[in-house]
Amino acid sequence: MYNSNDILKIVNQFIDRLPYDRRPSSLYEPIKYVLSLGGKRIRPVLMLLAYNLYKDDPESILMPAVGLETYHNYTLLHDDLMDNADLRRGHETVHKRWDANKAILSGDSMLVLAYQRMQQCDQRHLQAVLDVFTQTALEIGEGQEYDMSFETRNDVTEQEYIEMIRLKTSVLLACAVKTGAILADADEEDITNLYKFGEQLGLAFQLQDDLLDVYGDPAVFGKAIGGDITSNKKTYMLINAVNRATPEQRQELMAWMTVKEFNRDEKVRAVTALYDQIGIRQLCEQKINYYFDECRKFLANVKVSDERKQILLDYTDEMMKRKK
Ligand code: IPE
Ligand code: IPE
Ligand code: MG
Ligand code: MG
Ligand code: MG
Repeated sequence: MYNSNDILKIVNQFIDRLPYDRRPSSLYEPIKYVLSLGGKRIRPVLMLLAYNLYKDDPESILMPAVGLETYHNYTLLHDDLMDNADLRRGHETVHKRWDANKAILSGDSMLVLAYQRMQQCDQRHLQAVLDVFTQTALEIGEGQEYDMSFETRNDVTEQEYIEMIRLKTSVLLACAVKTGAILADADEEDITNLYKFGEQLGLAFQLQDDLLDVYGDPAVFGKAIGGDITSNKKTYMLINAVNRATPEQRQELMAWMTVKEFNRDEKVRAVTALYDQIGIRQLCEQKINYYFDECRKFLANVKVSDERKQILLDYTDEMMKRKK
């Protein structure tokens, strides 16, 4: 049995050795670039860890695991363009280093590459694997559309926010563990519990991402701090800040959310100060802990030994402490 560090090494080695012999190289350069910038590799690691609950040869599913990582990286190319983000993993984003067309077209090809890699799995499970992947990819597009359309709405509810992050982020973590379980011949009940484990973990994960977008250390986080505030993303923090604000605080928040011309740093500083006054950081941390607790309940129901489950639990604990 491997621990998550062993698995991360195996995944990274595999990614580093992927051949790119198609042309033109200018199309594949941005793909190699973004995949070489590292990242936490959470999705392939989760897939291999879920598989490893049942079987001892996780190396055998590296290609579909990296297919999922390729898919994730494709969403980042388009997401950074949509979110107007200049920094990813401490480096320039693709649309910044090249241009928007490159982010679109190399992104599209990455999506195709993701399918090509995904389908290189045990053929007995091909249909089931592609079914969950395709369903997930559709849901992510839906989540991203909600995310963007919420920018211009000021009445987004907490419930709508949770559903939006379930779609844009959680389902991919859930898909990762489910695919690992399918490929390992787990039974239906375990597959369902593992999917739900990934889904609740994914909610905690996106809440953390939103928290780090405000309170993270820019040198560690690898993305610019305050991007969500700048573009009026309807996060758990902003929704709850508006709901819990005094009339004066609410007026100030609404003014920042509607002003057309502003100084970026000034807006980020002012909205963060309001979050601090309202106690939003602690509130968000409680919500994150809630979803981490929820995910463990689903893992507890999975019918494998505690010893085997411990590795996945340890990985979950590591994710809880993340600063990037
Ligand atoms: C970033 O994902 C996008 C979100 C869903 C928050 P990660 O935080 O997993 O990014 P990398 O792959 O580690 O860079
Ligand atoms: C990520 O949401 C969702 C997807 C990429 C599908 P964010 O927009 O919050 O991710 P980051 O913060 O740019 O990584
Ligand atoms: Mg986004
Ligand atoms: Mg983004
Ligand atoms: Mg974010």
